[in-house]
Amino acid sequence: MQFEVLATCHTTRARVSRMRLAHGVTMLPTFMPVATQAAIKGLTPQQVEALGINLILNNTYHLNLRPGIDILKEAGGAHKFQGWNHNLLTDSGGFQLVSLSKFTKITEQGALFASPFTGEATMLTPEESISIQHAIGADIIMQLDDVVSSLTVGPRVGEAMWRTIRWLDRCIDFHEKSGKGDVQNLFAIVQGGLDPELRDQCLEEMIERKNKVAGYAIGGLSGGEEKDTFWRIIKQCADKLPADRPRYSMGIGFAEDLLVCVALGVDMADCVFPTRTARFGVALTFNGPLNLRLSKHAKDMRPIDETCPCPTCADGMSRAVLNHIVTLETAGAHALTQHNLVFQARVMGGARDAIMSGTFPEYLKTFFANYFGEEG
Ligand code: GUN
Ligand code: ZN
Repeated sequence: MQFEVLATCHTTRARVSRMRLAHGVTMLPTFMPVATQAAIKGLTPQQVEALGINLILNNTYHLNLRPGIDILKEAGGAHKFQGWNHNLLTDSGGFQLVSLSKFTKITEQGALFASPFTGEATMLTPEESISIQHAIGADIIMQLDDVVSSLTVGPRVGEAMWRTIRWLDRCIDFHEKSGKGDVQNLFAIVQGGLDPELRDQCLEEMIERKNKVAGYAIGGLSGGEEKDTFWRIIKQCADKLPADRPRYSMGIGFAEDLLVCVALGVDMADCVFPTRTARFGVALTFNGPLNLRLSKHAKDMRPIDETCPCPTCADGMSRAVLNHIVTLETAGAHALTQHNLVFQARVMGGARDAIMSGTFPEYLKTFFANYFGEEG
């Protein structure tokens, strides 16, 4: 990976950087759409590419279950399998400890998952997670982490944080021995829940391993904690993480959160929110979300956003037709998904432009005034 900071905001910690990976250059800060199962729900890879997106996310746990490693290897990796020629990041499967917690058991060796198909127990170890991510061939791979919900309190939070560090070492060892380090870039994931002391201890340990990792993620957040707490933890981590490594806040996708994270020094984020909310009929706009299922849109002949370059707005689909089809026709979900991904890209692209031209604070002011002002 080549990572170069091009500009830094004078009043916030926001920065613009260029990240060169094996499948091209991605400018940061960026939002990464989520293709858990090797597809952005509702879009073909060609459509995603046409929106100007060049970094998406797949999930190791899910791809290992289906189609499985043999088919991915047969295809020559996940890029070829899904017809995606741009950058790809795989999450490790650690988060499924939370999202599928009813079916998991954690041990020092790894995470035990009960197969949703057969009920059979399978162990995902740190080594195995990296090995699967090698077969997938993603440009950025994530360590296996021991993730607890951000609402968990007590000794389990510290236990998970320390285990995440031990698992990082196992991931680093396995990755180094594989010889894949030149093309695939391993990121560490800072854990420690909402406890600033645990976060500090985790940061210290992980920063010691700086020369063995290409970047850092901040994990274990966005699980229902107070915003104020969330911001403080992001700030604490982003302040301490080395400036010459990308910083990735995991599972963040509301535009207002993205911009606060960017202001605090975050470079990358991902979330299912924009694509999921599209399927529920919600279009994201600079004047706030628009629920197109509501009958007040039934006679509105305007596009979602007159200034939006997405195919849905530019080719003239009205709010009225979207209201008409959104819960009936899959084309409604396609149209809103395209619009929402372009919206996320415009929020982040606008931030990059503003940071480059020294106007990021004004950009923030305008964004927040519009977003929480009158509905458009
Ligand atoms: N996605 C959202 N949060 C997390 C996290 O803490 N760890 C991992 N691996 N993925 C995530
Ligand atoms: Zn649009």
